[in-house]
Amino acid sequence: MKEAEFLHLAGQYCFRTRLDGSEIHGPVLARGEGSVVYDVEGKAYLDFNSGQMCATLGHNHPRIVAAIQESCRTLIHANSTLFNAPEILLAQRLASIVPRPLLKSLFLLSGSDANEAAIGLAKKYTGGFEVISPHTSFHGLSDMARMVTYAGWHKGYGPGIPGTYAMLAPYCYRCPVQHTFPTCQFACLEASFELIDAQSTGALAAVITEPLFSAGGVIEPPEGWLTELQRRCKERGMLLILDEAQTGLAKLGTMWAFEREGIIPDILTISKHFGGGVTISAVVTTAAIEERAVERGFTLTHSHAADPLGCSAALASIALIQEEDLTRQAERIGRYWRHHLDELAQRYELIGDVRGRGLIQGIELVWDREKKTPAPEAGRQIARHALEHGLLFSLRRGGSVLRFVPPFTTTEAQMDQAATILRQALETVQG
Ligand SMILES: Cc1ncc(COP(=O)(O)O)c(C=O)c1O
Repeated sequence: MKEAEFLHLAGQYCFRTRLDGSEIHGPVLARGEGSVVYDVEGKAYLDFNSGQMCATLGHNHPRIVAAIQESCRTLIHANSTLFNAPEILLAQRLASIVPRPLLKSLFLLSGSDANEAAIGLAKKYTGGFEVISPHTSFHGLSDMARMVTYAGWHKGYGPGIPGTYAMLAPYCYRCPVQHTFPTCQFACLEASFELIDAQSTGALAAVITEPLFSAGGVIEPPEGWLTELQRRCKERGMLLILDEAQTGLAKLGTMWAFEREGIIPDILTISKHFGGGVTISAVVTTAAIEERAVERGFTLTHSHAADPLGCSAALASIALIQEEDLTRQAERIGRYWRHHLDELAQRYELIGDVRGRGLIQGIELVWDREKKTPAPEAGRQIARHALEHGLLFSLRRGGSVLRFVPPFTTTEAQMDQAATILRQALETVQG
């Protein structure tokens, strides 16, 4: 079938609830391998979005395919009241790659349900219900996750869930308190906690944050922010939940993003490429938190929680990450790609900022570097040009941030090719 026929059918039968718009347009994807996806017409695209960031190990990685095939031969799905073998082995393996006291894991399906579970756990553990998240955060689109997603996508969903508050994110390029790091001494945290303390009814449970705000615009907190945030949480008896859906499992050049600061969260959530393309997520916490929450009746499961299929894929993905030293690979690829982005920034005034690290990097477009006037129209034009020329990536902050998440399998030649497409696109807009 041709693309036009597929799109006609999509118009008739498919919901248009996509994150980035409601238009129906091509390409219609049909297959993928490594860092490349192909549409139904056979045209190839460099996938610098790694699918929906879940194919970062490379599309259809042979080790993931083999693990899935084995699971199809043995057990795809199991009774989730009982334990199953791949689930137990996965929990043990995950415990070997997180620092103590993190130890115990619960497996679910998506980033959203892992965050819902983490918040539920924090409520049960602390006895509080107030949950705070930075204003550029994205934690998913189920009810609770949406309510602590302040980067957008929650307008029109009725009253917020009581006890959910926003705090200021450390968006240094556009500092929300008009300050400069490091002289600010984290003024954004000071202001946020003054408001949190003023609003709190005395039932603080947790702060949930990404260590690098991906969907919010590839915003990386300055070093020390997480440490200071955790200190303030501890002072108030709140837990720190780190959502490493996008940043974990080697993507930033370390196994976990929090390693850069040497802190350890109370609860860690993992999803995206955890299953190498198959849906599975995890909530990891300490034995003490698990113990108290269970004593207080914490229950969380779904029909497909801890399915052997997803657990087997996740076991294969951790083995792959460790055995192929993907942390070093992310660091190496990231450095190479950054070199291209820096070069483009030197050449095109339109690029106001280059940021991120490892396999999550982005550029922010501005019409004027002094005034930092956002240039979303330019972003949309560049993305259209790139798509026509075979490069996929996503737009954030309404179009003014281009976010690149290439898979670990991306070669230097593929990055050179992507940079050439971007340069041509920038040329057509700025030129
Ligand atoms: C940081 C983060 N957390 C949670 C989610 C939600 O994950 P899911 O779409 O699997 O529910 C996302 C999705 O992009 C994310 O980027």
